[in-house]
Amino acid sequence: MGPSSTLLLLAAFWGWAQASSRHYSSRLEKTYGRSVTDSQCQHMLKHLHNGARITVQMPPIIEGHWVSTSCEVRPGPEFLTRSYRFYPNNTFHAHQFYYEDNHCTRPTYTLLVRGRLRLRQASWIIRGGTEAEYHLHRVHVACHTAAVAKELGRRLHGSCRAAARGGWEPGVPYELWSEEGGYNCSRELNFAMHELQLLRVEKQYLHHNLDHLVEELFLGDIHTEPSQRLYYKPSSYQTALQNAKNHDHGCIVCRIIYRSDEFHPPILPPRADLTVGLYGQWVSQRCEVRPEALFLTRHFVFHDNNHTWEGHYYHYSDPVCKHPTFTIYARGRYSRGLHSTRVMGGTDFVFKVNHMTVTPMDLATTSLLNVFNGNECGAQGSWQVGVEQDVTVTNGCVALGIRLPHTEYELFRMEQDARGRYLLYNGQRPSDGSSPDRPEKRATSYQMPLVQCSSSGQASDFSQGADSHSPPHNGCTGGVSQKHMVAVTALLLLWQR
Ligand SMILES: *[C@@H]1O[C@H](CO)[C@@H](O)[C@H](O)[C@H]1NC(C)=O
Ligand SMILES: *[C@@H]1O[C@H](CO)[C@@H](O)[C@H](O)[C@H]1NC(C)=O
Ligand SMILES: *[C@@H]1O[C@H](CO)[C@@H](O)[C@H](O)[C@H]1NC(C)=O
Repeated sequence: MGPSSTLLLLAAFWGWAQASSRHYSSRLEKTYGRSVTDSQCQHMLKHLHNGARITVQMPPIIEGHWVSTSCEVRPGPEFLTRSYRFYPNNTFHAHQFYYEDNHCTRPTYTLLVRGRLRLRQASWIIRGGTEAEYHLHRVHVACHTAAVAKELGRRLHGSCRAAARGGWEPGVPYELWSEEGGYNCSRELNFAMHELQLLRVEKQYLHHNLDHLVEELFLGDIHTEPSQRLYYKPSSYQTALQNAKNHDHGCIVCRIIYRSDEFHPPILPPRADLTVGLYGQWVSQRCEVRPEALFLTRHFVFHDNNHTWEGHYYHYSDPVCKHPTFTIYARGRYSRGLHSTRVMGGTDFVFKVNHMTVTPMDLATTSLLNVFNGNECGAQGSWQVGVEQDVTVTNGCVALGIRLPHTEYELFRMEQDARGRYLLYNGQRPSDGSSPDRPEKRATSYQMPLVQCSSSGQASDFSQGADSHSPPHNGCTGGVSQKHMVAVTALLLLWQR
């Protein structure tokens, strides 16, 4: 066992110890008042969820009907919507609706998955998550057009006895896999339900309104490399599903999906692709989790006049982003590429990082940074809590796995939410912890969206808030190797014990 896996285990243990208390709820903000010097962007970061009261249910109660809130993009890419039902007898019935297009208006086929789910312990790796085991009973597929039925039936024919040589009929469910042995054709579709191995349920009252409860179910993430999908155990989450009974009333998509089945797949309202405009400032809408126990919020500033960008990453040790560990500020140039040829609706970009600062935010991180020898991360032994250091001169920071200068091949898309705000999606980071430093490693799916908080990139928006817990000016990253970050986070957690 290498040193980093030891650290991971320790981190995991710590996370488990924390999460094993049955319930914890968190007030994500201390005050409602906005300080005079506080910019809208800083305000949104500090007051995630707009003052909503978030409760994380441990263990999660997942009984009920859960649906997607939008057209989802999986690595590949695959465009889909999901409708999952969990019953009191621990069985589940899941529909995955697949589409030709990135707005989910042209259904191709639906997978119907039946099985059993058993919740296990709180996750050892992802604090706030719960591990589960699933067992499949049956998997069926139903195609929605004659062309897809014919094509899929033919494609699976070689490996699957249920598939007809001349293709299938549309609108008829065919068995792909069953417990009794019948067929085993799901592999050809790269199908797995490993997302059920990691769960988290959040409840929140929207807009301070006790009558408006929204429940969200987060399921495990899907490996960014499709060939790894069948072997990957989730270590972060996909976009949340919402409980059909307790969903955001503005979610029209939820209602469409709720009423659908394998014979009537959801057809989402058509919309146009928005041209990606990288200007102004963008922030996270929630505490985000990255594979392997990294929690963070992000704040980006884009200057489209000279094609430069600034990124702030605020890292935390806990799943509601209350306890800061360190922040990274990075900046550099970007250039816009063409519409993606691989991901419908996406636009290619190239990002360069050539300047970076690091600010340790707690004693543990500070000690860690001071342990490193030589000129590999700022001035040796000089780190202090809350004091930012430029690590550009040392070509990055070995302790954090950051080497400068660094180039990343990015994928972006933009959308407007139900309230008309702009959302910015950038590419999902590779699940293996590497960085997309070559064009062929460019993402085919997206991270959680950032929301626009200012249409200007003016520095005045960075004025410091009055709250001593407010993130400092600097923090965030372009090219941080996640493996190293994991080791760091693990070390930090170890120190905190
Ligand atoms: C579990 O409950 C569901 C819904 O009530 C039912 O359709 C299913 O047959 C039950 N399964 C078992 C194994 O009892
Ligand atoms: C289906 O096939 C795959 C390999 O092709 C195998 O790993 C899996 O165990 C099979 N499932 C069943 C239930 O036979
Ligand atoms: C780019 O433009 C922004 C805003 O106009 C400015 O603050 C920044 O210093 C410029 N950067 C470079 C490298 O010229």
